[in-house]
Amino acid sequence: MPEFTNLVAATGLTLERIARDFTPAVFASSLAAEDMVLTDLILKARLPIGIFSLETGRLHAATLAVLDKIKASYGADITLYRPQPEAVDAYVAQHGLNAFYDSVELRRECCRIRKVEPLGRALAGNKAWITGQRRAQSTTRAELHVEEADPAHGMTKFNPLADWSEDDVWHYIRSHGVPYNALHDQGYPSIGCQPCTRAVEPGEDVRAGRWWWENPDSKECGLHMVDGKLIRIKSVAA
Ligand code: ADX
Ligand code: SF4
Repeated sequence: MPEFTNLVAATGLTLERIARDFTPAVFASSLAAEDMVLTDLILKARLPIGIFSLETGRLHAATLAVLDKIKASYGADITLYRPQPEAVDAYVAQHGLNAFYDSVELRRECCRIRKVEPLGRALAGNKAWITGQRRAQSTTRAELHVEEADPAHGMTKFNPLADWSEDDVWHYIRSHGVPYNALHDQGYPSIGCQPCTRAVEPGEDVRAGRWWWENPDSKECGLHMVDGKLIRIKSVAA
């Protein structure tokens, strides 16, 4: 598998370059499959890149269990950023715990409080951040580059797995014995918060289980901006 070997080597070189030229740099891990590949590459090479996760308060128990798996396999702790309790309390008091099902606006406001604001704190003071996004994940990621400017956060953003296919991700995980979220074996190819993620049927688009009740045109995660705008997550099949 020379192509796969080259892909892994190129990704390792990208991470080494980030560690050398973009210190301090951080990696945002959702603890899903792609992010476990990057976690393995960063921790095994002992690269000076911090790893954090946005612990929204609404993650699946199986996702939180990945933190223990990382500790057991690598002896490493992932830094957790949580939403401001007052903001969560005010949202829940005014709109209800699961108000994100009621309107796109209330869904985006929940994501802003639980993900986007903590992301800003996690990124502050860094020269670069790293994500596990892949080009093949959705049409909106078709233009994704390994390295891009992130004017919204005033730093460089790296997507080292931009060229990887889903098969590449799973080949890496299985051949390197990388720990992963048990939900991936239960029909969840893409995993976000528990109330906003469901399993997909075989053959369905990998992102079909994310915010499934919304029109594909309104699916904005809020974490990733393109040209200073929130991107719209459309499934490839949509
Ligand atoms: S999302 O924007 O629709 O939620 P997705 O789940 O595909 O994105 O994840 C894409 C990338 O965003 C991940 O590889 C990771 O870098 C980052 N990300 C998403 N969710 C989180 C999270 N809870 N904590 C940290 N990073 C995250
Ligand atoms: Fe809230 Fe759902 Fe967004 Fe999580 S994905 S922050 S629960 S709206």
